[in-house]
Amino acid sequence: MSSGEVPPPYGSGPAAPATPARRIRISHLQAAKDNGTRFAMLTAYDQYAAQIFDEAGIEVLLIGDSAANNVLGYQTSLPITVDELVLFSRAVSSAAHRALIVADLPFGSYESSPAQAIASSVRLMKEGLVHAVKMEGGAYYADTVRALTQAGIPVMAHIGFTPQSEHILGGYKVQGRGDTGQALVADAVALADAGAFCVLMEMVPAEVAKAVDEAVRVPTIGIGAGNGTTGQVLVWQDMAGLRTGRVAKFVRQYADLRTVLSDAAKTYADDVRSGAFPGPEHSF
Ligand code: KIV
Repeated sequence: MSSGEVPPPYGSGPAAPATPARRIRISHLQAAKDNGTRFAMLTAYDQYAAQIFDEAGIEVLLIGDSAANNVLGYQTSLPITVDELVLFSRAVSSAAHRALIVADLPFGSYESSPAQAIASSVRLMKEGLVHAVKMEGGAYYADTVRALTQAGIPVMAHIGFTPQSEHILGGYKVQGRGDTGQALVADAVALADAGAFCVLMEMVPAEVAKAVDEAVRVPTIGIGAGNGTTGQVLVWQDMAGLRTGRVAKFVRQYADLRTVLSDAAKTYADDVRSGAFPGPEHSF
C-alpha cells in the first residue's frame, strides 16, 4: 500500500490463505466412515461465516435452503429459489478454501424430472461454484440420484424429516418412529445404491439413524438423529445463538452471538449519541 493509502473501508472480499489447505473431497468423508472417525458440517450463507468455519476446520459447509428462514426471513424453506441459492453459494465458495461445499436443491428445482435436477445442479455448480448438491426425498428419487451421479454431480441424500415436505408431513415431526423406521433404512439403501455419496438424516430416532449408518457403506450425517452417524450438522445461527425463539431439542448453542451483537450495537449507539465515537484516532 502506498503511503497515504487507506485500507478499503467496507471490506475487500475474502483474502486467499498464504498456504492453501488441501480441499476436503467426498473421498475424505468416505475415509472417515471407513476409519471410524467423525466430521462436522455447518450451514454458511455468506463470506465471513464461510471463512470463519473453514478456518475452524469444519469439513463440510452447506448452503442450505434454510437460508430462506435464517437469512431472508421467510416462514419456511419453500419460497427460496435456485437464483437466491446461487448467490449465497458464490459468497461461500469464494471464501472457503478447504471445506467441501454443498448446496441444497430448493423446492421446485428437481422434482419434475432427472433432467430438471441436472439443470438446477449444473447452475449451482457452474454459477455457485459448489462441489455437490443435497436433495430431499426417499427411494422414489433413486433414478434422479443415479442421473445426477452419472452427470458428475455428487449427491448428498436427505431423508427423515424433509422440511420441503412439511405440509405433507403435517409440520416439524420426528420421522421413522415404530414400523416406519425400516422404510427409512430402505430409502437410505436405495439412495446409496443409486450413487449418493452420503445420507443425511433429520429428526430421526437415534436407533434408526444408527441402523441406517450400519446398512449403508457411505457416510451418514445427523441433525436430531443421535450420535450414531459419521457426521453432524447444525444451522450456524442455531449453533452460535443468533436467532430468537425456542430452539429445537437437537440444538446445542455454543455461543450467545445475539447478546454479543446486541451489546455491541447498543454501546456503539450510546457512543454516537454521547459524542464518544468517533474519537480523534478515527478522524482524518
Ligand atoms: O437447509 C438446511 O440447512 C438443511 C440442514 C438443516 C440439514 O437442510
